[in-house]
Amino acid sequence: MKKMTRLTKCYGLFFLFLCFLWPSAGLAIENSECMDCHSDESLTKECTDNILQTSITESLYVDEDKFNHSVHNINGITCIDCHTDIEELNWDEELPHKMYLEPVVCTTCHEEEGEAYKKSVHMEILKKGITMRCYACHGYHYVEYSETATVAERGNNYCLKCHNPYQYHEWLPAKEAHFSMVECVVCHSPEVPNKIHLNFIDLVSNKLYTSNEILDALGVDYDEFMPLLDTNKDGIINSSELENLALMLRLKNIHAVFHVELLAELLPIAHEVKRGTAEQDCVKCHSANSTYFDSVSILMTRDDGTIDRYEVDRAVLESYNLSHFYLMSGTRVKLLDKIGFLLLAGGACGALGHLTIRIFTIPIRRKRKTDKK
Ligand code: HEC
Ligand code: HEC
Ligand code: HEC
Ligand code: HEC
Ligand code: HEC
Ligand code: HEC
Ligand code: HEC
Repeated sequence: MKKMTRLTKCYGLFFLFLCFLWPSAGLAIENSECMDCHSDESLTKECTDNILQTSITESLYVDEDKFNHSVHNINGITCIDCHTDIEELNWDEELPHKMYLEPVVCTTCHEEEGEAYKKSVHMEILKKGITMRCYACHGYHYVEYSETATVAERGNNYCLKCHNPYQYHEWLPAKEAHFSMVECVVCHSPEVPNKIHLNFIDLVSNKLYTSNEILDALGVDYDEFMPLLDTNKDGIINSSELENLALMLRLKNIHAVFHVELLAELLPIAHEVKRGTAEQDCVKCHSANSTYFDSVSILMTRDDGTIDRYEVDRAVLESYNLSHFYLMSGTRVKLLDKIGFLLLAGGACGALGHLTIRIFTIPIRRKRKTDKK
């Protein structure tokens, strides 16, 4: 056995290679096998509703297209990675797997989120015999990346399934502005780090522009975007660079303003929604040095789904942030001064001045709109 010929070595390796391939090749069930049946929109099953104790019909249809776009499919998670109790399909039977499958356990892969979630008010209701599963918020087959999602598209959509925020928060003015620009968990899981996203929004239609629409208008691709903007090459987009961008877009007939959103970082700690700990202190946000506004960025989504994050100087926000601060502390005059100055500047610089005023006065115009209601 001491001398292994090259040939036996080769056979040995080949055999090992086969062992490695064989079991997985033999057992792995392709998604397409499941979809043979579950792509049928009329596939249903009868079951009893636990609470109402009546018979209901449950759809067993899985939308393949939507599933393929899900974060799970993109990361190579297959049907049986979640439905782990299906180990093989028995094609001799009409139903090739067990009639009742075990519930899927998300936390086998998302352990940290599971731990954080245990500390949430939503787990307290276990005492009342109600289990609120992960997918009460996220759904399951069609979970998408939420990095670039807006406030409306992420957390707030989950929460709004069950809570009407207008029933609470009597103490909070401008509810509409807060609920559309601050993700619920930014206040409700106050330990989660947060970030500001600037989105391009159409002044007239209020529609968000996609990354591609912006790049097409500017006539550049992803790699040219930052060099075009960042004229002083410090890697950060400052106020005048942002104004230039708005001007360039305006010349292409895109009347965009920047829609500001305060979002939670995607971290497990976002799940620690607790009772009585939410952020209520106005000054924590509405002050010049608020830590809530430390990280500001513009995100662009590439065609392959990856995301580029461009850092923006937080001074850009002063128009938003400080204007409220002034409004609230009664020093409205300062704000008016600022606008007065811009009006003069506007006269001199035409389009640019006009645009800046539009940007700088959004909060005021928005306020006027709500006042009229
Ligand atoms: C030959 C058709 C067929 C194939 C292939 C098939 N299923 Fe099913 N599946 C069914 C039918 C029919 C039911 C409904 C059974 C019933 O009436 O309770 C069902 C039910 C289910 C359920 C619901 C079970 C429950 O407890 O309510 C899940 C989950 C499921 N299938 C997943 C899968 C997965 C994952 C695959 C691929 C690994 C797969 N199925 C392959 C026909 C199929
Ligand atoms: C990220 C995990 C995950 C993946 C991947 C996944 N499922 Fe599911 N699936 C679930 C969960 C969670 C449920 C809800 C019921 C439960 O807990 O079993 C479910 C339920 C189902 C049901 C019952 C009907 C329904 O919609 O509630 C079917 C059928 C099903 N899955 C088929 C599939 C098929 C086919 C695939 C692959 C194309 C797949 N699943 C991939 C998590 C997953
Ligand atoms: C077999 C492992 C596995 C299971 C089970 C699983 N996931 Fe995932 N999940 C992943 C992977 C891998 C990613 C991508 C991770 C990444 O990009 O960092 C992911 C990402 C996510 C994301 C992040 C989306 C984002 O914005 O980045 C959410 C939300 C999520 N899963 C929810 C669920 C839910 C809800 C369930 C149960 C129904 C579940 N997952 C079950 C593996 C799994
Ligand atoms: C009450 C609603 C809710 C429930 C229930 C919930 N989540 Fe989340 N989840 C969120 C919110 C809010 C975020 C923050 C990011 C966002 O807005 O999408 C998030 C983010 C995530 C992310 C991406 C961030 C990260 O940590 O990588 C994953 C993965 C995730 N959740 C998995 C789970 C799992 C697993 C469970 C069950 C243990 C669960 N979630 C239960 C609301 C919920
Ligand atoms: C599937 C329904 C559902 C979803 C989705 C949901 N919740 Fe809840 N939430 C509940 C239930 C049920 C309770 C417990 C009420 C009780 O204990 O009386 C609760 C309690 C709370 C409480 C404490 C309320 C109290 O009465 O003290 C807060 C705060 C809260 N949720 C915030 C959120 C946030 C933020 C989100 C989104 C990230 C969210 N919830 C998503 C159902 C939901
Ligand atoms: C500016 C911060 C802020 C924002 C944004 C916010 N909340 Fe609250 N919310 C609070 C505070 C503070 C309370 C008072 C009770 C507490 O501390 O939990 C509260 C109370 C609640 C309660 C009732 C809790 C109770 O004890 O009665 C629910 C439910 C709730 N919020 C859900 C939401 C949802 C859903 C959203 C997103 C649409 C949201 N909140 C957005 C700060 C906020
Ligand atoms: C978690 C941070 C946060 C907290 C806490 C907070 N706000 Fe805000 N507030 C915001 C953000 C973000 C906006 C929207 C950005 C903008 O309009 O410039 C906003 C908008 C507003 C507006 C402007 C409305 C408009 O239409 O433009 C007013 C007024 C306001 N907040 C007052 C308050 C008061 C009063 C409190 C305390 C009771 C408070 N805020 C607590 C973050 C916060």
